[in-house]
Amino acid sequence: DWTMAEFRATKIAEIREQVGDQRVLCGLSGGVDSAVAAVLIHEAIGEQLTCVFVDHGLLRMNERKQVEELFRGHYNIPLVVVDAEERFMKGLAGVTDPEAKRKFIGAEFINVFEEEAKKIGGADFLAQGTLYPDVIESVSFTGGPSVTIKSHHNVGGLPERMNMQLVEPLRELFKDEVRLLGKELGLPDIFVGRHPFPGPGLAIRIPGEVSKERCDILRKADAIYLEEIRNAGLYDAIWQAFAVLLPVKTVGVMGDYRTYDHVCALRAVTSTDGMTADIYPFDAGFLSRCATRIINEVQGINRVVYDYTSKPPGTIEWE
Ligand code: XMP
Repeated sequence: DWTMAEFRATKIAEIREQVGDQRVLCGLSGGVDSAVAAVLIHEAIGEQLTCVFVDHGLLRMNERKQVEELFRGHYNIPLVVVDAEERFMKGLAGVTDPEAKRKFIGAEFINVFEEEAKKIGGADFLAQGTLYPDVIESVSFTGGPSVTIKSHHNVGGLPERMNMQLVEPLRELFKDEVRLLGKELGLPDIFVGRHPFPGPGLAIRIPGEVSKERCDILRKADAIYLEEIRNAGLYDAIWQAFAVLLPVKTVGVMGDYRTYDHVCALRAVTSTDGMTADIYPFDAGFLSRCATRIINEVQGINRVVYDYTSKPPGTIEWE
Protein backbone atom coordinates (compact mmCIF):
# COMPACT_ATOMS: atom_id res chain seq x y z
CA ASP A 1 0.00 0.00 0.00
CA TRP A 2 2.09 2.76 -1.35
CA THR A 3 0.88 6.34 -1.43
CA MET A 4 2.51 9.64 -2.27
CA ALA A 5 2.08 10.85 1.32
CA GLU A 6 4.16 7.88 2.48
CA PHE A 7 6.69 8.39 -0.29
CA ARG A 8 7.03 12.02 0.76
CA ALA A 9 7.63 11.12 4.40
CA THR A 10 10.07 8.32 3.54
CA LYS A 11 12.09 10.49 1.16
CA ILE A 12 12.23 13.38 3.61
CA ALA A 13 13.68 11.04 6.22
CA GLU A 14 16.16 9.64 3.69
CA ILE A 15 17.27 13.08 2.56
CA ARG A 16 17.83 14.22 6.15
CA GLU A 17 19.80 11.07 6.85
CA GLN A 18 21.91 11.42 3.70
CA VAL A 19 22.60 15.14 4.01
CA GLY A 20 22.87 15.68 7.77
CA ASP A 21 23.66 19.32 8.42
CA GLN A 22 25.51 19.84 5.16
CA ARG A 23 24.69 22.08 2.23
CA VAL A 24 22.86 21.11 -0.96
CA LEU A 25 22.76 22.83 -4.32
CA CYS A 26 19.81 22.02 -6.54
CA GLY A 27 19.76 22.70 -10.24
CA LEU A 28 16.41 23.86 -11.55
CA SER A 29 15.63 23.35 -15.22
CA GLY A 30 12.26 25.08 -15.33
CA GLY A 31 10.58 21.70 -15.63
CA VAL A 32 8.38 19.77 -13.24
CA ASP A 33 11.00 17.24 -12.07
CA SER A 34 13.63 19.56 -10.71
CA ALA A 35 10.95 21.80 -9.16
CA VAL A 36 9.40 18.85 -7.31
CA ALA A 37 12.84 17.63 -6.21
CA ALA A 38 13.71 21.09 -4.91
CA VAL A 39 10.49 21.55 -2.96
CA LEU A 40 10.82 18.07 -1.43
CA ILE A 41 14.42 18.70 -0.42
CA HIS A 42 13.52 22.13 0.95
CA GLU A 43 10.89 20.50 3.10
CA ALA A 44 13.51 18.09 4.39
CA ILE A 45 16.40 20.45 5.10
CA GLY A 46 15.12 24.03 4.69
CA GLU A 47 17.81 26.67 4.40
CA GLN A 48 20.58 24.14 3.85
CA LEU A 49 19.28 24.08 0.27
CA THR A 50 20.15 26.67 -2.35
CA CYS A 51 18.56 26.41 -5.76
CA VAL A 52 20.40 27.44 -8.88
CA PHE A 53 18.61 28.23 -12.08
CA VAL A 54 20.89 28.55 -15.06
CA ASP A 55 19.45 30.73 -17.77
CA HIS A 56 21.37 29.24 -20.68
CA GLY A 57 19.34 31.11 -23.26
CA LEU A 58 17.70 27.82 -24.29
CA LEU A 59 14.52 28.36 -22.28
CA ARG A 60 10.94 28.76 -23.40
CA MET A 61 9.15 32.10 -23.44
CA ASN A 62 8.77 33.57 -19.91
CA GLU A 63 10.20 30.46 -18.29
CA ARG A 64 12.72 32.27 -16.15
CA LYS A 65 10.09 34.62 -14.78
CA GLN A 66 7.80 31.73 -13.87
CA VAL A 67 10.55 29.94 -11.98
CA GLU A 68 11.49 33.10 -10.10
CA GLU A 69 7.87 33.68 -9.13
CA LEU A 70 7.35 30.12 -7.95
CA PHE A 71 10.51 29.83 -5.88
CA ARG A 72 10.93 33.34 -4.54
CA GLY A 73 7.28 34.34 -4.47
CA HIS A 74 5.36 31.18 -3.60
CA TYR A 75 7.85 29.10 -1.60
CA ASN A 76 10.48 31.58 -0.47
CA ILE A 77 13.22 29.09 -1.35
CA PRO A 78 16.71 30.61 -1.76
CA LEU A 79 17.27 30.93 -5.50
CA VAL A 80 20.28 32.03 -7.51
CA VAL A 81 19.59 32.86 -11.14
CA VAL A 82 22.67 32.72 -13.34
CA ASP A 83 22.74 34.63 -16.58
CA ALA A 84 24.76 32.30 -18.77
CA GLU A 85 23.24 32.86 -22.21
CA GLU A 86 26.40 34.30 -23.72
CA ARG A 87 28.73 31.54 -22.66
CA PHE A 88 26.32 28.82 -23.80
CA MET A 89 25.79 30.44 -27.19
CA LYS A 90 29.53 30.85 -27.61
CA GLY A 91 30.15 27.23 -26.73
CA LEU A 92 27.38 25.99 -29.02
CA ALA A 93 28.60 27.96 -32.03
CA GLY A 94 29.58 25.53 -34.76
CA VAL A 95 28.27 22.48 -32.88
CA THR A 96 25.77 20.48 -34.96
CA ASP A 97 26.04 16.90 -33.69
CA PRO A 98 23.19 16.11 -31.25
CA GLU A 99 25.34 14.22 -28.78
CA ALA A 100 28.02 16.91 -28.92
CA LYS A 101 25.39 19.52 -28.06
CA ARG A 102 24.11 17.48 -25.16
CA LYS A 103 27.62 16.81 -23.87
CA PHE A 104 28.63 20.47 -24.09
CA ILE A 105 25.46 21.65 -22.34
CA GLY A 106 25.79 19.02 -19.61
CA ALA A 107 29.44 19.86 -19.02
CA GLU A 108 28.86 23.61 -19.05
CA PHE A 109 26.02 23.19 -16.56
CA ILE A 110 28.43 21.47 -14.23
CA ASN A 111 30.95 24.29 -14.72
CA VAL A 112 28.32 26.90 -13.83
CA PHE A 113 27.30 24.88 -10.80
CA GLU A 114 30.81 24.54 -9.63
CA GLU A 115 31.28 28.30 -9.81
CA GLU A 116 28.04 28.93 -7.93
CA ALA A 117 28.94 26.35 -5.32
CA LYS A 118 32.19 28.20 -4.70
CA LYS A 119 30.36 31.51 -4.40
CA ILE A 120 28.07 30.26 -1.64
CA GLY A 121 31.08 28.83 0.17
CA GLY A 122 30.85 25.29 -1.12
CA ALA A 123 28.21 22.59 -1.03
CA ASP A 124 28.56 18.91 -0.29
CA PHE A 125 25.63 17.68 -2.34
CA LEU A 126 24.14 18.32 -5.73
CA ALA A 127 20.43 17.60 -6.10
CA GLN A 128 18.82 16.69 -9.40
CA GLY A 129 15.35 15.76 -10.59
CA THR A 130 16.44 12.59 -12.36
CA LEU A 131 13.57 10.20 -13.09
CA TYR A 132 13.50 6.47 -13.67
CA PRO A 133 13.11 6.71 -17.48
CA ASP A 134 16.14 9.06 -17.61
CA VAL A 135 18.15 6.41 -15.81
CA ILE A 136 17.23 3.57 -18.13
CA GLU A 137 17.35 5.42 -21.43
CA SER A 138 20.84 6.64 -20.69
CA VAL A 139 21.98 3.14 -19.93
CA SER A 140 20.53 0.83 -22.52
CA PHE A 141 17.78 0.19 -24.98
CA THR A 142 15.20 -1.96 -23.19
CA GLY A 143 15.44 -5.53 -24.43
CA GLY A 144 18.15 -4.70 -26.91
CA PRO A 145 21.89 -4.32 -26.94
CA SER A 146 23.47 -1.82 -24.60
CA VAL A 147 23.39 1.35 -26.65
CA THR A 148 23.10 4.96 -25.54
CA ILE A 149 20.13 6.51 -27.27
CA LYS A 150 20.61 9.97 -25.83
CA SER A 151 22.83 11.26 -23.08
CA HIS A 152 20.40 12.85 -20.67
CA HIS A 153 22.44 15.61 -19.23
CA ASN A 154 21.13 15.22 -15.71
CA VAL A 155 22.28 11.62 -15.47
CA GLY A 156 25.79 10.46 -14.97
CA GLY A 157 28.84 11.31 -13.02
CA LEU A 158 30.13 14.56 -11.71
CA PRO A 159 33.75 15.40 -12.25
CA GLU A 160 35.80 13.99 -9.38
CA ARG A 161 37.29 17.40 -8.63
CA MET A 162 33.87 18.64 -7.52
CA ASN A 163 33.72 16.35 -4.59
CA MET A 164 29.93 16.54 -4.45
CA GLN A 165 27.56 13.66 -3.92
CA LEU A 166 24.26 13.37 -5.73
CA VAL A 167 20.85 13.67 -4.13
CA GLU A 168 18.26 12.29 -6.54
CA PRO A 169 15.04 11.66 -4.63
CA LEU A 170 12.93 11.01 -7.75
CA ARG A 171 15.11 8.27 -9.27
CA GLU A 172 12.45 5.60 -8.80
CA LEU A 173 9.56 7.63 -10.16
CA PHE A 174 7.81 7.97 -13.48
CA LYS A 175 6.50 11.30 -14.65
CA ASP A 176 2.88 10.74 -13.61
CA GLU A 177 4.11 9.86 -10.12
CA VAL A 178 6.22 13.02 -9.96
CA ARG A 179 3.10 15.02 -10.78
CA LEU A 180 1.21 13.33 -7.94
CA LEU A 181 4.07 14.06 -5.60
CA GLY A 182 4.12 17.69 -6.76
CA LYS A 183 0.42 17.99 -5.95
CA GLU A 184 1.03 16.36 -2.60
CA LEU A 185 3.71 19.01 -1.93
CA GLY A 186 1.32 21.81 -2.85
CA LEU A 187 2.87 22.96 -6.12
CA PRO A 188 0.41 25.03 -8.14
CA ASP A 189 -1.57 23.00 -10.72
CA ILE A 190 -0.28 25.13 -13.56
CA PHE A 191 3.27 24.10 -12.67
CA VAL A 192 2.57 20.46 -11.89
CA GLY A 193 0.64 20.01 -15.10
CA ARG A 194 3.33 21.50 -17.31
CA HIS A 195 4.60 19.51 -20.22
CA PRO A 196 8.07 18.02 -19.70
CA PHE A 197 10.99 20.09 -20.93
CA PRO A 198 14.41 18.57 -21.56
CA GLY A 199 17.49 19.82 -19.73
CA PRO A 200 19.31 20.78 -22.96
CA GLY A 201 16.28 22.92 -23.75
CA LEU A 202 15.72 24.47 -27.12
CA ALA A 203 19.17 23.34 -28.30
CA ILE A 204 17.78 19.89 -29.11
CA ARG A 205 14.79 21.45 -30.89
CA ILE A 206 17.06 23.26 -33.32
CA PRO A 207 18.71 20.60 -35.46
CA GLY A 208 22.01 21.92 -36.77
CA GLU A 209 23.70 24.96 -35.31
CA VAL A 210 22.13 26.79 -32.37
CA SER A 211 22.26 30.58 -32.13
CA LYS A 212 20.49 33.25 -30.10
CA GLU A 213 18.69 34.37 -33.23
CA ARG A 214 17.38 30.85 -33.90
CA CYS A 215 16.35 30.45 -30.26
CA ASP A 216 14.41 33.72 -30.43
CA ILE A 217 12.57 32.59 -33.57
CA LEU A 218 11.75 29.20 -32.06
CA ARG A 219 10.56 30.70 -28.74
CA LYS A 220 8.01 32.83 -30.58
CA ALA A 221 6.66 29.97 -32.70
CA ASP A 222 6.51 27.66 -29.69
CA ALA A 223 4.61 30.23 -27.61
CA ILE A 224 2.00 30.73 -30.34
CA TYR A 225 1.53 26.97 -30.76
CA LEU A 226 1.08 26.45 -27.03
CA GLU A 227 -1.25 29.40 -26.73
CA GLU A 228 -3.46 27.84 -29.41
CA ILE A 229 -3.34 24.49 -27.64
CA ARG A 230 -4.40 26.06 -24.35
CA ASN A 231 -7.14 28.09 -26.03
CA ALA A 232 -8.49 24.93 -27.62
CA GLY A 233 -8.57 23.27 -24.19
CA LEU A 234 -6.16 20.55 -25.33
CA TYR A 235 -3.13 21.22 -23.12
CA ASP A 236 -3.88 18.58 -20.47
CA ALA A 237 -4.77 15.93 -23.04
CA ILE A 238 -1.27 16.17 -24.51
CA TRP A 239 1.90 14.82 -22.90
CA GLN A 240 4.20 17.20 -24.71
CA ALA A 241 3.78 19.73 -27.50
CA PHE A 242 6.47 21.96 -28.92
CA ALA A 243 7.83 23.57 -32.03
CA VAL A 244 11.08 22.59 -33.74
CA LEU A 245 13.08 24.98 -35.92
CA LEU A 246 14.67 23.27 -38.91
CA PRO A 247 17.96 24.40 -40.43
CA VAL A 248 16.27 24.17 -43.80
CA LYS A 249 15.05 27.19 -45.74
CA THR A 250 12.32 26.99 -48.34
CA VAL A 251 10.82 29.44 -50.79
CA GLY A 252 7.49 31.06 -50.10
CA VAL A 253 5.44 34.05 -51.12
CA MET A 254 3.96 36.75 -48.93
CA GLY A 255 1.97 39.48 -50.67
CA ASP A 256 4.08 40.47 -53.65
CA TYR A 257 7.30 39.19 -52.16
CA ARG A 258 9.29 36.00 -52.43
CA THR A 259 10.40 34.74 -49.03
CA TYR A 260 13.20 32.34 -48.19
CA ASP A 261 12.92 31.32 -44.55
CA HIS A 262 13.09 28.45 -42.08
CA VAL A 263 10.72 25.50 -41.80
CA CYS A 264 9.04 25.02 -38.43
CA ALA A 265 7.83 21.58 -37.40
CA LEU A 266 5.10 21.13 -34.80
CA ARG A 267 5.13 18.09 -32.54
CA ALA A 268 2.50 16.86 -30.08
CA VAL A 269 2.38 13.44 -28.46
CA THR A 270 0.42 11.51 -25.89
CA SER A 271 2.30 9.24 -23.50
CA THR A 272 2.24 8.04 -19.91
CA ASP A 273 5.94 7.86 -19.19
CA GLY A 274 7.79 9.24 -22.21
CA MET A 275 9.12 5.80 -23.09
CA THR A 276 6.61 5.31 -25.88
CA ALA A 277 4.39 7.92 -27.49
CA ASP A 278 1.64 8.40 -30.05
CA ILE A 279 1.12 11.50 -32.12
CA TYR A 280 -1.76 13.74 -31.10
CA PRO A 281 -4.37 13.77 -33.88
CA PHE A 282 -5.24 17.46 -34.17
CA ASP A 283 -7.96 18.35 -36.63
CA ALA A 284 -6.84 20.06 -39.80
CA GLY A 285 -8.48 23.35 -38.87
CA PHE A 286 -6.48 23.59 -35.69
CA LEU A 287 -3.18 22.91 -37.44
CA SER A 288 -3.81 25.34 -40.24
CA ARG A 289 -4.72 28.04 -37.69
CA CYS A 290 -1.37 27.46 -35.95
CA ALA A 291 0.50 27.49 -39.26
CA THR A 292 -1.11 30.74 -40.36
CA ARG A 293 -0.43 32.49 -37.07
CA ILE A 294 3.18 31.32 -36.88
CA ILE A 295 3.96 32.36 -40.45
CA ASN A 296 2.23 35.73 -40.04
CA GLU A 297 3.63 36.54 -36.62
CA VAL A 298 7.13 35.07 -36.60
CA GLN A 299 9.72 36.62 -38.81
CA GLY A 300 12.09 33.93 -40.08
CA ILE A 301 9.52 31.15 -40.60
CA ASN A 302 7.55 30.76 -43.82
CA ARG A 303 6.48 27.09 -43.71
CA VAL A 304 5.00 24.89 -41.00
CA VAL A 305 4.78 21.08 -41.03
CA TYR A 306 3.33 18.56 -38.55
CA ASP A 307 5.36 15.61 -37.29
CA TYR A 308 3.42 12.33 -37.65
CA THR A 309 6.02 10.04 -36.07
CA SER A 310 5.25 7.91 -33.03
CA LYS A 311 7.86 6.65 -30.55
CA PRO A 312 9.23 4.19 -31.49
CA PRO A 313 10.52 4.49 -34.16
CA GLY A 314 10.97 8.24 -33.52
CA THR A 315 11.99 9.76 -30.21
CA ILE A 316 9.86 12.55 -28.76
CA GLU A 317 12.55 15.20 -29.16
CA TRP A 318 14.19 15.57 -32.54
CA GLU A 319 17.70 15.14 -31.17
P1 XMP B 1 13.00 11.25 -26.09
O1 XMP B 1 13.32 12.37 -27.02
O2 XMP B 1 14.22 10.49 -25.67
O3 XMP B 1 12.44 11.94 -24.78
O4 XMP B 1 11.91 10.36 -26.60
C1 XMP B 1 11.76 11.26 -23.75
C2 XMP B 1 11.41 12.31 -22.72
O5 XMP B 1 12.60 12.79 -22.09
C3 XMP B 1 12.76 14.18 -22.30
N1 XMP B 1 14.19 14.42 -22.53
C4 XMP B 1 15.04 14.88 -21.60
N2 XMP B 1 14.85 15.26 -20.33
N3 XMP B 1 17.15 15.78 -20.13
C5 XMP B 1 15.91 15.72 -19.60
O6 XMP B 1 15.74 16.11 -18.46
C6 XMP B 1 17.43 15.40 -21.39
O7 XMP B 1 18.56 15.46 -21.82
C7 XMP B 1 16.31 14.93 -22.16
N4 XMP B 1 16.19 14.48 -23.43
C8 XMP B 1 14.89 14.17 -23.64
C9 XMP B 1 11.90 14.51 -23.50
O8 XMP B 1 11.50 15.88 -23.49
C10 XMP B 1 10.75 13.55 -23.30
O9 XMP B 1 9.82 14.03 -22.36
